[in-house]
Amino acid sequence: MKLILVGPPGAGKGTQGERLAGALGVPRIATGDILRAAVETKSPLGSSAKPFLDRGELVPDEVVVDLVRDRLARSDCAKGFILDGFPRTVNQARALDSMLASTVHGGIDRCLLLRLDDETVVRRLSGRRVCSSCHTPYHVDTGLGDEGRCTKCGSELVQRSDDREETIRARLAVYATQTEPLTEHYRQLGLLETVEADGPVDQVFGELMKRIRQPAQKTR
Ligand code: AP5
Repeated sequence: MKLILVGPPGAGKGTQGERLAGALGVPRIATGDILRAAVETKSPLGSSAKPFLDRGELVPDEVVVDLVRDRLARSDCAKGFILDGFPRTVNQARALDSMLASTVHGGIDRCLLLRLDDETVVRRLSGRRVCSSCHTPYHVDTGLGDEGRCTKCGSELVQRSDDREETIRARLAVYATQTEPLTEHYRQLGLLETVEADGPVDQVFGELMKRIRQPAQKTR
């Protein structure tokens, strides 16, 4: 199964992507996580990406496309994958189409759009904390792990540098102008499924699984 998760910042792509990966037995590939890890290790990729992440802007297409191409070539993607946060522009979607056309993967099976209104996004993200080691997300309203430490690995929970309100609003503007047009690309291919993301995590997950099990209305 080859899936794309798209949606505004904070829509729950990471949360649902992890659960889907577990349920379907395929890796979740999150470009945001890969870029943040590169920033942490101060690699050349991290140094070039950091200013974009700090401002809530998109890293240039060619950088992200190369990164995803390398990741999809690994053996754990042979049976499928979940792309979280990629593609994010129509150019990236076209690059992915041609990338997959030239491999054994075949095309994407479904593009799952998580829909959430802007004010809920701001509330969710300003209260989000993430594990500094395994990146599991938590929220101040639902509990900060084990006294501020991750329940999975025991590491400290931290706030992402782009989760301040001003940067969240900049990310929302980028989403509206650069990423939303992408949904039309997948709608035209008959691969787009839209799920409301404001319900409880279990409910959203159930809805996503239901859409995945339905046959797609592919037009090409
Ligand atoms: P990225 O890391 O992809 O960030 P994002 O898309 O802004 O999404 P988030 O990770 O903030 O949110 P999410 O939808 O995963 O929600 P989550 O599950 O964590 O990208 C960061 C940056 O990297 C970009 O700004 C850009 O600079 C760069 N980048 C990445 N990919 C790129 C690309 N392809 N091209 C160019 N640049 C790229 O949930 C959020 C919070 O809500 C958590 O606290 C969670 O616990 C909570 N929550 C989740 N679901 C629910 C629910 N149903 N009810 C209540 N709370 C919930």
